[in-house]
Amino acid sequence: MSGHGNPIPMTARAGGALRGTARVPGDKSISHRSLILGAMAVGETRITGLLEGRDVLGTATAMRAFGAEVTRTRDGLWCVHGVGVGGFAEPDRVIDCGNSGTSARLLMGAMATVPITATFTGDASLNQRPMARVTDPLALFGAHAVGRAGGRLPMTLIGAETPVPVRYRLPVPSAQVKSAVLLAGLNAPGQTVVIETVATRDHTERMLRGFGADITTSVTRDGRVITLTGQPELVPQEITVPCDPSSAAFPVAAALITEGSDVLVPNIGLNPTRAGLYDTLREMGADLTCENQREQGGEPVADLRARFSPDMRGIEVPPGRAASMIDEYPILSVVAAFARGATFMRGVKELRVKESDRIDAMAVGLRTAGVKVEEGPDWWRVHGRGPGGVPGGATAATHLDHRVAMSFLCLGCATTKPVHVDDASPIATSFPAFEPLMRGLGAHLDLANR
Ligand code: S3P
Repeated sequence: MSGHGNPIPMTARAGGALRGTARVPGDKSISHRSLILGAMAVGETRITGLLEGRDVLGTATAMRAFGAEVTRTRDGLWCVHGVGVGGFAEPDRVIDCGNSGTSARLLMGAMATVPITATFTGDASLNQRPMARVTDPLALFGAHAVGRAGGRLPMTLIGAETPVPVRYRLPVPSAQVKSAVLLAGLNAPGQTVVIETVATRDHTERMLRGFGADITTSVTRDGRVITLTGQPELVPQEITVPCDPSSAAFPVAAALITEGSDVLVPNIGLNPTRAGLYDTLREMGADLTCENQREQGGEPVADLRARFSPDMRGIEVPPGRAASMIDEYPILSVVAAFARGATFMRGVKELRVKESDRIDAMAVGLRTAGVKVEEGPDWWRVHGRGPGGVPGGATAATHLDHRVAMSFLCLGCATTKPVHVDDASPIATSFPAFEPLMRGLGAHLDLANR
């Protein structure tokens, strides 16, 4: 599979303890939503701590194409002059979402109830991912999508002329689908209702409330029922984006498996719909402590400290927790390789339709690094080899998947022999400073040099 640039092979080798402070970038989910909701408000939204990774920069470019003014001023302050709900202009070019499913799905939702037409495309990874999961509910609003076989990008979406509100039960636990429906509901008259049986990340709901929308969530026997009243005037916001718990997972995990390590991650977002990995790691026996817990912009944040944890045990991860740690299974499988006993992860078939088939990508790489992994359609089991017990010496294919690439580079921080990845370039989508940050903690990461 090829992306837009040249592959960047990279090697990680054990080089002693990881120590220090890991300042991880802004939350990817909140960054995308800040730009999109800012573009749908009337007036200037100001954002600090925005993740300046390729995916989010793609959303910024797209918002400009839809008519919003998006600028970056001093010290990473981003300003978005919104055009108001229903105010998007028709883009005069194809919207290239690169590797980012969040950009594609949320932007389709945001434009689906505006009478304009836009064409979306992405890289080789994104163009294989399922889009019918968003275009099906968007059709209920009156939008019309024409894409490739199997509902794949490139795809043209024709927004509804006279949108109607929708009541929609999510068939898959997906915050992207939920958010696409809510963003479409913004420009439909009346109430749009989304029902989810499993709670997925709720940043869209929290942020819509912050922007002044009338949105309520009630927990019923039927699931979480989210009701949004359409056609509000969104009020611009001052947003401080917390650090991304999904990005923090990499230095945290590397510290847990590498002897002598002690790493502090300040200001990490710990929204309960995102923090499942940290509960799981604690259950495995990880030495994790939370300091300075507080609230920032409607999201819980804290400083998280991770120390080398030689006594971790494999566990069965509760499937009900999957949505709250869906992006963290690749790095969890790396930690599991250093635990004693097996870690069983089930209810995770969504992993097969992420930036790559993450079960397959991790299983293949871990096996070549000397770790036994079993897998089925919606489960996998990693047989831990205990602290210091993973041989390494493998080259892993990253399949245009940033989280697979970072996971294998963290693996190599603690294996006997180095671990190589064929292409570290996708890391720039979500964590552009991964390499210098990990080096700053003491990790030995090198370009190519096999
Ligand atoms: C995201 C939701 C998740 C996650 C992705 C970001 C979001 O995807 O994997 O990285 O910002 O809403 P799904 O909605 O497909 O589960």
